[in-house]
Amino acid sequence: MSETAKLIIEDKTYELPVLTGPENEKAIDISRLRAMTGYVTLDKGFKNTGSTTSAITFLDGEKGILRYRGYPIEQLAEKAEFLEVAYLLIYGELPNKVEYANFKNHITHHTLIHEDMRVFLEAYPIKAHPMGILAASLSTISTFYPESQDPNRPKEAIDLTIYRLLAKVPTLAAWAYKNAVGQPVVYPKNKFDYCENFVNMMFDLPAYDYVPDPVVVNALNTLLILHADHEQNCSASTVRVVGSSQANLYASVSAGVSALWGPLHGGANQAVIEMLENIKNDGGNLDKWISKAKDKEDSFRLMGFGHRVYKNFDPRAKIIKKAADDVLNKLGIIDPVLDIAKQLEEVALNDSYFKERGLYPNVDFYSGIIYRALDIPTEMFTVMFALGRLPGWIAQWKEMVGENQPISRPRQIYTGSKERNFVEIDNR
Ligand code: CMC
Repeated sequence: MSETAKLIIEDKTYELPVLTGPENEKAIDISRLRAMTGYVTLDKGFKNTGSTTSAITFLDGEKGILRYRGYPIEQLAEKAEFLEVAYLLIYGELPNKVEYANFKNHITHHTLIHEDMRVFLEAYPIKAHPMGILAASLSTISTFYPESQDPNRPKEAIDLTIYRLLAKVPTLAAWAYKNAVGQPVVYPKNKFDYCENFVNMMFDLPAYDYVPDPVVVNALNTLLILHADHEQNCSASTVRVVGSSQANLYASVSAGVSALWGPLHGGANQAVIEMLENIKNDGGNLDKWISKAKDKEDSFRLMGFGHRVYKNFDPRAKIIKKAADDVLNKLGIIDPVLDIAKQLEEVALNDSYFKERGLYPNVDFYSGIIYRALDIPTEMFTVMFALGRLPGWIAQWKEMVGENQPISRPRQIYTGSKERNFVEIDNR
């Protein structure tokens, strides 16, 4: 007989099915709990709740393991191209040569944005945060493809939306940046591959013939792969929740961008650099900032530290720390902020507060230092995360839709007033 868990409420015992995944992860299936017992579970922030089964990404927070479709992140970051990883996440297997060529070809031929979108982009205030522009543009772009709103489209039509998204988001992101710096937008060029094209759209100017630097392109490729998926994180869960109402894929991904924006999620990469700059400008007294982070009366947190799932180390942070050293060396850049980051890590890792709570540098601690070295402005950091996470969001959405999952609609425990009668304003 398969494993079950026993739940005793008052004098009644209920048996709940136990699910065991291929990596021996265990869950108690409570999907029939309310029907059986009248009770719901309560788990603010979903710290213990599995919202879905998924075959996309496996991570073990205790052992610091991260695998996409079974492939270790270390191997993918070293050997793969970002679009290969995107294909793997979305379609489940690494592409063969023909499949990969077709996939890249589709994406290359959908990079242009409808010219009417320029009107919207130009209307944003000059200081508009590019994440706001990206989220809004993704919703707007769905209006150019009304057929994408049909939840019963055939597979080919869904694939077309997937190609369009992967192709157009880099263009939108680069244009949001050009808009912010008051430069003319650069159109995509088919002769470039995915990362080269993005770098070119960011840095080319009419006055000179920019040639993307392979060091910059390779670093970008690695960073995008490291960010490509991270199972049921805040933004991926958002994409699934929004998509579960059969909202279209553009709108679902737009919601993911908004969720990523916050400083506790993807926005941490911007917050880390701002924090390191503050520490440097304040004289570099690390003990002072560590004390602030530990002080429960102080709202300051050590940005780029801690993770809901990783409690020993974040494997992505390990790769990024090494990449930061490599990239800065190759580009001949000395960044004092990198030294501050390394010293801060050293101090925090030897401090009992951080040790006891399992707080280690996460993916965002060193990524901003690489982005700075690549000349990417601070406000664009979270957009870079979004570019990387895009295939993950698409894969999560596609899996959910493919499995016909029900609309997401959690329960609550009501804690407000009991029924009371309305009182006219003159009598209050
Ligand atoms: N600095 C100081 N204390 C911290 C930090 C931090 N960065 N992170 C967690 N803590 C403390 C927290 O105060 C709590 O202490 P206590 O048990 O005494 O109340 C304990 O550690 C557990 O923290 P939590 O907030 O309950 O943990 P969580 O799983 O809800 O939050 C987190 C995870 C990532 C939101 C949090 O660690 C944090 O705010 N980190 C800084 C922001 C950051 O770097 N975010 C990027 C995450 S990685 C990129 C991504 O995938 O989003």
